[in-house]
Amino acid sequence: MKSHDIQLDSNGKLQHFLTIEGLKKQMLVDILDYAENFSSLGNRQAKKVPLLRGKTIANLFFEPSTRTRTTFELAAKRLSADVLNININTSATTKGESLLDMLHNLEAMQVDMFVVRHNSSGAAHFIAQHVAPHISVINAGDGRHAHPTQAMLDMFTIRRYKQDFTGLRVAIVGDIMHSRVARSQIHALNTLGVPEIRVIGPQTIIPCEAAHLGVHVYHDMHLGLQGVDVIIMLRLQRERMQGALLPSEHEYFHMYGLTEEKLKMAKADAIVMHPGPINRGVEIESSVADGPQSVILEQVTHGISVRMAVMAMALGRMSVAESNGEQD
Ligand code: CP
Repeated sequence: MKSHDIQLDSNGKLQHFLTIEGLKKQMLVDILDYAENFSSLGNRQAKKVPLLRGKTIANLFFEPSTRTRTTFELAAKRLSADVLNININTSATTKGESLLDMLHNLEAMQVDMFVVRHNSSGAAHFIAQHVAPHISVINAGDGRHAHPTQAMLDMFTIRRYKQDFTGLRVAIVGDIMHSRVARSQIHALNTLGVPEIRVIGPQTIIPCEAAHLGVHVYHDMHLGLQGVDVIIMLRLQRERMQGALLPSEHEYFHMYGLTEEKLKMAKADAIVMHPGPINRGVEIESSVADGPQSVILEQVTHGISVRMAVMAMALGRMSVAESNGEQD
């Protein structure tokens, strides 16, 4: 069974959020609209709404994370859920307990949702197949497969600046091969109707199947950036690389690092994005990362409202209209 088959419940509502692939455009638009409802909360003195009061959410991060783990925790707390941050390094998995036994023990504590990051592609899907039927599983990044909430917060950020997806040229630059973020972004951009998606990088880290994903491949960054509205820079995922795929970092930066000079190839109002963590001087120059076209820190802020939307939809199984009346 493909992972999107199990994401929806029998009424067609989101139960698990494992991948963007296969989800309908309206579902993605619902997530963006729902997140829009939550985005002003951060500026209020009382940042909480009672939507998930009484629900318990467990964060299971088997891989390091700064942005995703903390914004999931903040999002859950702003929805008034109880949050368990499981420290994998001090959990009984270090004494031989299996992943499924750990999950079943957490289920016995009436956990309603697992937020899972794992270095194995397919881990979140595997967990969704093995938990009790009322539980929701959110993929917070699995191997090089998918990072759907990152892609949705990126779409939220693009929509904030560009309003309409259907006239955009978007360039994704760097380590496409090892990037779960790029894969999820490409599915989301295609589904939302972006007509031109470009991927830019050395041949060694652009997957052979890129053309089947509906993207245009460029190895020359100056050409690839010409006339684009959105530039998404990616980190080199050295922890997932096998063998020598790249020249030195210095040479990589020379060819594929985003500098002020290369940025001039894009439209004057192009925005610069990066899912983080950024490696300054490797894929992006500091003056660009901190410059007027950068929206990198806004992406982080939008992660809270987008993750609130996904968790509320999965645990509340409600529509955007229903949610409007419930905010306090
Ligand atoms: N973008 C992202 O997934 O960042 P973290 O690894 O810090 O969660």
